[in-house]
Amino acid sequence: MTIKKTIFLEPFEKFNEWYCEAISDKRIYEPTAMSIASVDENSCPSNRMVLLKKHDEKGFCFFTNLGSKKAQEIFKNSSVALCFYWGVQGRQIRIEGVANKIEDLEADEYFATRPRDSQIGAWASKQSSIMEDHQDFEKRIKFFDEKFRNENVLRPQFWSGFRVEPNYFEFWHEGQFRLHHRQIYQKITDGWEVKILYP
Ligand SMILES: Cc1cc2nc3c(=O)[nH]c(=O)nc-3n(C[C@H](O)[C@H](O)[C@H](O)COP(=O)(O)O)c2cc1C
Repeated sequence: MTIKKTIFLEPFEKFNEWYCEAISDKRIYEPTAMSIASVDENSCPSNRMVLLKKHDEKGFCFFTNLGSKKAQEIFKNSSVALCFYWGVQGRQIRIEGVANKIEDLEADEYFATRPRDSQIGAWASKQSSIMEDHQDFEKRIKFFDEKFRNENVLRPQFWSGFRVEPNYFEFWHEGQFRLHHRQIYQKITDGWEVKILYP
């Protein structure tokens, strides 16, 4: 078996290399999109796409409504799994780890960079709640648009980000005749253990 102990940053550097190649590839629509799977209190999984907004060796950040299904599940069980797929490049990256809500200041800073309409949308959407009538949503958008007219739109307390701190990476690269390449990194105390898997 191929097992190699490695330095701490290696999987993050490899992620960054693939990520930068995806970002600069004009064929890829939404290169920052990733799925995030969470589980409910009965261990039933659910999965949805979000956008990766920040990443470094501390983890992978996305933003969302804290009342949403995903956020509520993460508050009860912080184990999550991410998956990026860049089909035209024949690449997939899977990441597993623990999600924690980021500090308010960090969320404020990111929220301030969003387009005003997205900021208003964050106020107006009761994400993942049943909507009785689409007009209610439109009324809420109008309401918050008027409320914040001529002022900066501050971040609602119910909207923030999570940082996923990884303990597992898998880099998958498409091979001919389904002979794909899979390299995994598993967190150990002082770094990462690297292995390869059958496709
Ligand atoms: C490409 C793509 C990117 C998305 N990005 C986000 C995002 O960054 N944050 C978010 O809350 N929802 C995002 N969504 C919507 C989610 O997939 C999902 O519908 C929503 O967050 C509600 O999920 P939940 O009810 O499981 O919490 C995105 C959807 C797509 C298709």
